[in-house]
Amino acid sequence: MNKKRDAAQRIEALRGEINYHNRQYYVFDAPKIADVAYDRLLRELQQLESEYPQLVTPDSPTQRVGDKPLEGFEEVVHRLPMLSLDNAFGEEEMGEFERRIRDRLKLEDDRAIRYLAEPKLDGLAVSLRYEKGSLVQGATRGDGSRGEDVTGNVRTIKAIPLSLQGDDWPEILEVRGEIFMPHEGFEVLNRRARERGEKGFVNPRNAAAGSLRQLDPRLTAQRPLSFYAYGLGEVVPVPIADRQSESIRRLREWGLPISPLHEVVTGVAGCTDFFQRVEKQRDGLPYDIDGVVFKVDDLDLQQQLGFVSRAPRWAIAYKFPAQEEMTQVEAIEFQVGRTGAITPVARLTPVFVGGVTVSNATLHNMDEVLRKDVRPGDTVIVRRAGDVIPEVVSVVMEQRRPDARPVDLPTACPVCDSDIIKPEGEAVARCSGGLYCPAQRKEALKHFASRKAMDIEGLGDKLVDQLVQQELVDTPADLFRLTLEQLSALERMAEKSAKNLLQALEKSKSTTLDRFLYALGIREVGEATAQSLANQFVTLEALEQADEERLQETPDVGPIVAAHTHSFFRQAHNREVIEQLIEAGIHWPAVEIQPVEQLPLSGKTVVITGTLSKPRDEVKQMLQSLGAKVTGSVSKKTDYLLAGEEAGSKLDKAEKLGVAILDEAALQDLLAQNQ
Ligand code: IVH
Repeated sequence: MNKKRDAAQRIEALRGEINYHNRQYYVFDAPKIADVAYDRLLRELQQLESEYPQLVTPDSPTQRVGDKPLEGFEEVVHRLPMLSLDNAFGEEEMGEFERRIRDRLKLEDDRAIRYLAEPKLDGLAVSLRYEKGSLVQGATRGDGSRGEDVTGNVRTIKAIPLSLQGDDWPEILEVRGEIFMPHEGFEVLNRRARERGEKGFVNPRNAAAGSLRQLDPRLTAQRPLSFYAYGLGEVVPVPIADRQSESIRRLREWGLPISPLHEVVTGVAGCTDFFQRVEKQRDGLPYDIDGVVFKVDDLDLQQQLGFVSRAPRWAIAYKFPAQEEMTQVEAIEFQVGRTGAITPVARLTPVFVGGVTVSNATLHNMDEVLRKDVRPGDTVIVRRAGDVIPEVVSVVMEQRRPDARPVDLPTACPVCDSDIIKPEGEAVARCSGGLYCPAQRKEALKHFASRKAMDIEGLGDKLVDQLVQQELVDTPADLFRLTLEQLSALERMAEKSAKNLLQALEKSKSTTLDRFLYALGIREVGEATAQSLANQFVTLEALEQADEERLQETPDVGPIVAAHTHSFFRQAHNREVIEQLIEAGIHWPAVEIQPVEQLPLSGKTVVITGTLSKPRDEVKQMLQSLGAKVTGSVSKKTDYLLAGEEAGSKLDKAEKLGVAILDEAALQDLLAQNQ
């Protein structure tokens, strides 16, 4: 007997604690416990309840796992109708809304109207009925007069208290609010659906609606749903407050979650300011909202204003421009991006979405086109959120025309007609045109000029954009044909800077083979690979003629790099640009043709330390071009330490290990001996 009493006490304590943590999480947004600890409490409670089934109550936190499936939903007649809201788009319509209120209430112009402002959540409305503090019914809005009984499902949503806090609640309390699915849960749910080969939901609102209208509450229980309360239905006895803001504060005290973004604002100016602030926060919120709602705060005034048809005169939804709209795909075209990546783009019948007119939307890549099965002529849902590039979310299959044909990936670049390469297993297809392809030119030029490539000082991104836009430069070779006159005529370019740039261009002509190779921007050929290729082939001609097998003999060059390099030099236009560059005067020290093993520093490992007379990169490349392997730390395997000024611990270590130490002069001597 005692044991049972102890169990009852412990059960009571556990329920109190679990409900407390639920409120901390959902109502106060201030969780006070780690998930594992919470789960431990819940498991202990489950264990005790299974030992003492007679102690299980319907409002126990264990009772959220979902009851048996239903045959269908019962109908619920709403005792007070669930209303909808009129919409306002723009400040002018907000002004009209307030004007109507003033006229109807015959308010003096200097009497300010206060509104409760809150976000308009993008989920679905429900009515929760509490009798004597216990949740007895949950119903959907339906047509506003009759909805569906989803009690078993709402009981599984942890944000919804099964019983109210405190003891000053009215005997009957109907709470109206929004059930929604936060982004994080939505992403997980959809990822899992895709892993199972299912399609997933189009957006969080559909996911929330689909989850709440499950006949099997055990499924609803597994869906990441949440809830915010924003109003009241039937309340007995009334009133519970004089103001809308006060009534939701009371709901919060009773344990119902309220949006933390709510605020009381004054007049149209206050509403507009609130709207703008929330709009800025919108993209960072963890759930979707589609506008803000303003409600006259004074409940007396609300009463006087009443309703027109299904919407109250005292409230308005100030909507953001819709982020999703339907439109038609007129064509699917292919765009060439920075690295030659081919991106399918849907050309759309222009549609106003997310505050702008959209006529193109990205389809990301061909795999995505196939997955979404988008075809020319299809009706699609287009989404544009914040600054994000508009995208095609999904196809409205019911509206597909029978003659709609899938698109094929083109075989040649739509811009320059070079071959398109799509390696097995990769999502991205690319144009192999390289420098020749106009779409890739801008970025290629930026890369060409960059510090580790040709190092053209003063040729920054903005200048490259200008040069390309004004058609002064097409290929890197054109850079060397620019005149002082042309450059000085550019925007924000003084004659002095123009002269400096010409000098920098002149200076860059004297380079090394590996820098030149790197500057060409061959795919997968970074600095180190360019260096290896230069070491291996010594002359550009030898490299150009190498087949893939020969290329792969180069250290660190595998089949992928070999294929890219080979294909780059097979494109006649790439060879043409190279020829022009050399004609323009680009040169590098000719190295006698000799196999890599016979370079002066072949097989030698060198470490560089301290400050040298030239930039470290330059010295490193020089050493590498002579066959040395340049590493970062001194070990027994190090052959030479090249020590500049203020050399530190590496010098000490080299001395200790007996590694040969060279200063720059000694290095020159060594090289002279080896020539
Ligand atoms: S009040 C008295 N407040 O918007 C008017 N509705 O377009 C009843 N909604 O069916 C609604 N957030 O699903 C109200 N803070 C909010 C809301 C909100 C979202 C939804 C609700 C309603 C629809 C009306």
